[in-house]
Amino acid sequence: MRILDLGCGAGTELVKSGVTESDEVTGVDIDDEALVIARQRFPKRAFCAGAAENLPFANASFDRVISNVAIPYMDIPTTLLEMHRVLVPGGQVWASVHPASFTMAEIRMFWGMVCGFTQERLYGSLTSAQSPFRRSAE
Ligand SMILES: C[S@@+](CC[C@H](N)C(=O)[O-])C[C@H]1O[C@@H](n2cnc3c(N)ncnc32)[C@H](O)[C@@H]1O
Repeated sequence: MRILDLGCGAGTELVKSGVTESDEVTGVDIDDEALVIARQRFPKRAFCAGAAENLPFANASFDRVISNVAIPYMDIPTTLLEMHRVLVPGGQVWASVHPASFTMAEIRMFWGMVCGFTQERLYGSLTSAQSPFRRSAE
């Protein structure tokens, strides 16, 4: 099976996404440095630089697209169109996103940076030990 690992980063074990030894895996990522590591770690796979929103592959090049915690970083509507384009008719998609706890921590950090809010001000009931950020004193 021809598999595209979208936003492959430095490469990961793909057993949990149903990939087997006999599959032909191609990773694509915008991060050149991560791809250098990926090529060293997984010499049997192909890797190429490219953006999910403009994939450097012909139509119907893959039987399955997998993407592990990468789609949230992409322009999602454009990426979905590209995934559809490079998949064969009836092709499969396997995708994972971050757990909710990760997303909540990101949101808290974002508001902390943008607004200078302390977590106590946002979530007064939470203890400071749970705070993923702390505004420096001014
Ligand atoms: C959280 S990492 C996940 C990497 C890998 N899938 C894994 O499970 O370890 C997200 C990856 O998406 C890549 N990425 C972000 N935006 C991208 C885009 N528009 N096109 C291609 N890759 C992108 C990043 O460079 C990064 O390597």
